[in-house]
Amino acid sequence: MNANQARRLVVLGTGGTIAGRATQASDNVGYVAGQVAVSELVAMVPALAACPLDVEQVAQINSKDMVLGVWQTLAGRVAVHLERSDVAGIVITHGTDTIEETAFLLQTLLKPSKPVVLTCAMRPATALVPDGPQNLSDAVAVALHPQARGVVVVCAGRIHGAIDVAKVHPYRTDPFDSGDAGALGCVEEAQLRMFRPWPQAVPEGTHDTASLQRLLGAAVMPRVELIFSHALADGEVVRALLGHTNGAGRLRGIVVAGTGNGTVHDDLLAALKHAQSSGVEVVVASRCAQGRVVPHAGQPLSDSAGLSPVKARLALALRLLEV
Ligand code: SIN
Repeated sequence: MNANQARRLVVLGTGGTIAGRATQASDNVGYVAGQVAVSELVAMVPALAACPLDVEQVAQINSKDMVLGVWQTLAGRVAVHLERSDVAGIVITHGTDTIEETAFLLQTLLKPSKPVVLTCAMRPATALVPDGPQNLSDAVAVALHPQARGVVVVCAGRIHGAIDVAKVHPYRTDPFDSGDAGALGCVEEAQLRMFRPWPQAVPEGTHDTASLQRLLGAAVMPRVELIFSHALADGEVVRALLGHTNGAGRLRGIVVAGTGNGTVHDDLLAALKHAQSSGVEVVVASRCAQGRVVPHAGQPLSDSAGLSPVKARLALALRLLEV
């Protein structure tokens, strides 16, 4: 059976607001995330009853509390299910707060030729008008689409690629943006309208699993800290970080969210140069919400190749896992 003939989906639950519970239906913010089982979320969408689904609770967390162990379990389960010939795609319910990091992680490690669709909600499952059921239903439509591939985030009727998506609003039910690149497409009454190609995928069976195995076998992630350049940034934070460079958790890297085109306060830059000379890798991204650092001659630090600060941090940690 190839991926186009396979119609079964796997739904993996990790928690988030989509699984949140509040004491009052009118309360959209004072809830506890990660309370409602993913099997119950699936049951809230009657249309999914017709679709063959395997449902698994991988974790039950607020995604702000993401830890390596949850990522390892999730990446491992996704990899196992992607190998199954009867599985067309995977849907993951996840909190919105770090969904862009999990999506980036899975796309970087797996580049799947089947769709891996993360979805979420901004209102808890107990809300008067919850957004989770529609998002879940849309995610299933995306995962069943015969051309779908790669890791995407589906929310509020839009399909975002894992590399570009970022949460840009703390309250709206459409909190994501893909910046200059824009969304990949949209879902309208279970029909997809695509604007851009699906994320990069490697053909089934040809995937190099070394990076995934390294993540799955890691006891800790290499320590990479994320700091900002800002008015009066004097480098003290870097000196404090360097003061704790011994032991298993020693500092391996720093990502600095620079001003504008990746510029950094001179005093902070001096401290970062000192960190580099002690073996710490330093990468600069832009703290601007849109655009990317435009490389130029004489740039004092290597740039994040268009990745946002949080994704650059994760990319550097994954790279340092290799050495
Ligand atoms: C979370 O990220 O788990 C909580 C917030 C959300 O899902 O919107």
